[in-house]
Amino acid sequence: MTQAFLRTRSVSLGLRRSPRRPPVDSPPLQGAKSDYALNLRGVSRVYPANHGGIRDVDLALRQGDFLFVTGPSGSGKTTLMKLIYGAEKPDQGEIWVAGENVAKLRGNSLSHLRRRLGVVFQDYKLIPNWTVEENVSFVLRAQGISHQKVRQRLLPTLKLVGLQDKAKNYPLQLSGGEQQRVSIARAIVGSPRLLLADEPTGNLDHENAMQVLGILKKLNSLGITVMVTTHDLNLIKIGNAPVAQINQGQLKIVSPQRI
Ligand SMILES: Nc1ncnc2c1ncn2[C@@H]1O[C@H](COP(=O)(O)OP(=O)(O)O)[C@@H](O)[C@H]1O
Ligand SMILES: [Mg+2]
Repeated sequence: MTQAFLRTRSVSLGLRRSPRRPPVDSPPLQGAKSDYALNLRGVSRVYPANHGGIRDVDLALRQGDFLFVTGPSGSGKTTLMKLIYGAEKPDQGEIWVAGENVAKLRGNSLSHLRRRLGVVFQDYKLIPNWTVEENVSFVLRAQGISHQKVRQRLLPTLKLVGLQDKAKNYPLQLSGGEQQRVSIARAIVGSPRLLLADEPTGNLDHENAMQVLGILKKLNSLGITVMVTTHDLNLIKIGNAPVAQINQGQLKIVSPQRI
């Protein structure tokens, strides 16, 4: 069974900690590099314009964990995701992904990191005048991977999301659910060990949302660490995984029954 270890200064699974003491359920920093797929320590990013953002977030996921992050609109879910994939820099704290402190990465190192994690967005972000296979394979082609190797990766990836028959279609010829599955294929085609999905079912009806959830769970069962933000309580109930809630920028572990 997967396990998520979540701590904030307000709730630390019953254990308060001082800022200087290492957290009880986390190894020292050296260990974090290898032991955790994702490790945030005291991370804050507050937008001066409106004081929105996240505050002092601690979070540790082991390889193969699945975590839902929920919270009202404007609570900081997208900010948290952006910090992890390096689109935002924290004001304070450390963010370790696959042994690297994301907060310190710039330029080429940041692009390398982005190849090791996949990101899925609510609005799919597909290129409309590219086919499914072009949208999915672009990530690999941009890395200079040979045509033959790209082809070898493409079909199994499309099969995994059930779109092997739609390779030549354009996004607008697909349903919303299918478009989201293309975006999942694009996110995983480079074999990342961490997959971030920011409200992946936000634009989908129940049936398509369930299909997307099924794929995320399948990827998780293959060993990929998955973190999904959502405010869909139904998804969380059916998803049967640990849940963290962000409220006004503060992250706490919650019991799925209590949200
Ligand atoms: N680039 C930005 N500039 C200023 N404020 C921002 C920016 N991005 C997000 N915010 C603010 O930070 C808060 C959290 O936003 P966000 O992380 O998008 O929340 P959520 O994804 O939970 O809806 C909101 O108050 C939002 O207005
Ligand atoms: Mg958001």
